This record gives sequence, C-alpha cells and structure tokens, in this order.
Amino acid sequence: MTQPVLRTEGLVAGYVPEVDILNGVDVDLHDGEIVTIVGPNGAGKSTLIKTVFGLLAAREGRVLLRGEDIAGRKPHDISRSGLSYVPQLDNVFPSLTIEENLGLGALARKGTNAGERTERMYELFPRLGERRKQVAGTMSGGERQMVAMARALMPDPEVLLLDEPSAGLAPAFVDAIFEKVVEVNEAGVTVLMVEQNARRALAMSTRGYVLDLGRNRFQGPGGELLEDPKVAELYLGGGGSRI
Ligand SMILES: Nc1ncnc2c1ncn2[C@@H]1O[C@H](COP(=O)(O)OP(=O)(O)OP(=O)(O)O)[C@@H](O)[C@H]1O
Ligand SMILES: [Mg+2]
Repeated sequence: MTQPVLRTEGLVAGYVPEVDILNGVDVDLHDGEIVTIVGPNGAGKSTLIKTVFGLLAAREGRVLLRGEDIAGRKPHDISRSGLSYVPQLDNVFPSLTIEENLGLGALARKGTNAGERTERMYELFPRLGERRKQVAGTMSGGERQMVAMARALMPDPEVLLLDEPSAGLAPAFVDAIFEKVVEVNEAGVTVLMVEQNARRALAMSTRGYVLDLGRNRFQGPGGELLEDPKVAELYLGGGGSRI
C-alpha cells in the first residue's frame, strides 16, 4: 500500500506524570479515507486526536505526516502542514459571528484567501451563508457544529480531525452532519474522526479502529467491524436490557 498520509506508531501520552492514557496506539490514515475511532468513554479517543494535533506531548512513539515525524510540534505549526482539528467541546467563538469565526479559521495557514474560502464554505454549508452575520452562540447545536467544521476547513486542509461531530445532536442533525462529512471527504479531504454514534459512523467509514484503555483492540473495514460479533457485543451495544 502507499505511504499513509497520517500514521501513529506506538503512541504513548497522558496528562499527569506517570499515568499514561494512551499505551501505544497505532493508527493509519490513507489518502481519501474516512477512518473512525470508536470505543468506550474514557478509552483515550480524544486524547489520541489531541496528541496527533500537538495539544498534548507524545511520551513515546511517533506521529508521521506523509512520513515526517511531527510529534513535538505545536498545533499552529501542524495546521500549516495541512491538518485541521475540530474539538469535541467549545469549538466555536460564541460571541463572534459566523463570518468572524470563519475569518479566524483562515489565519491557521498563511496564504489562505479568506474571501474565496468563506464563499466556498457558504456553498458547502448554505445555512451558514444565510446567517453569516449571526453570532455563533445563538445557533443550534447542529448549526454550531457546522460552523466549527467550516472554520477548520477554511485553510483547505488535507486531513480533517473530527472529535465527536454528532455529539448531543438530535437525529435529524446527526444525519445532516454525517452527510457533510461525506461531502467534505468526496471533495478530497481525508477524515479521521472519533464517534460515539459508532454504528452509523462505521457504516460510512472506509476503516475503523476500536480503542479501549488506550490500546488498539480491533481494526478493519467499517462494514467488517460492524459484523464482527465480538465488536458488536463489547462495543456497539447489543440492546436487550432496558437500563
Ligand atoms: N485534561 C485532562 N487532565 C487529566 N486527565 C484527563 C484530561 N482529559 C482526559 N483525561 C483522562 O484521560 C482519559 C481518556 O480521556 P479521553 O477524553 O481521551 O476519552 P474519550 O475516549 O475521548 O472518552 P469520551 O467518549 O467520553 O469522549 C480519561 O480517564 C480522562 O479522565
Ligand atoms: Mg472524547
């Protein structure tokens, strides 16, 4: 296979000394893929994404972007290399308008034509175009998630890191967000996302990884993981009991 656009090798990271949250995580992302990371609460999914983006230092292992080790580099520097990140929480500036939020996104990468990219984002997210002067804090959760995605796409990244894009959204908005993820991917952006909505996310993914206790547990094509009885039993919730 060709060289992955992004790869983590034996990634170890944590927040407090001597407590590792990631215990050697290996993930590959190839050009054009949508790869989803699933796993229980506290598995280290957000920690993995934060470490890839340089928000948390890797204690061991490597983060390779087209073969170059970016572990140890700062987020602003990593953005310039073509990676964008949408955090799980607090991902818009609530007191700024949509247009201002997008303008800030343009600053992540030198040479970004903010005007042109903003118009492109309004094509991709027509609802944001209609409301460009509205402050982000007064928008619905689903709309805010779109602002966050559009802001991350402003610098025209090769790779988009999405942490729980559907979290807390009503089913209709979950569909809308997932449709946008597919549309963005079809436009040429490679996507690495974390999702609680595991079945839906795996169904639209090229491949997936199950992470548990900071370790790789299962991996494979999205459809195969969905059909794996062990994965279903342990991580996808079989239903059955009421509470
Ligand atoms: N800033 C922090 N300081 C200390 N510990 C943290 C911090 N952030 C996360 N942790 C711990 O790291 C572990 C993994 O957290 P992480 O947020 O990566 O999990 P997750 O898989 O994304 O879970 P969720 O599905 O709930 O979002 C948890 O035990 C959490 O308490
Ligand atoms: Mg998380």
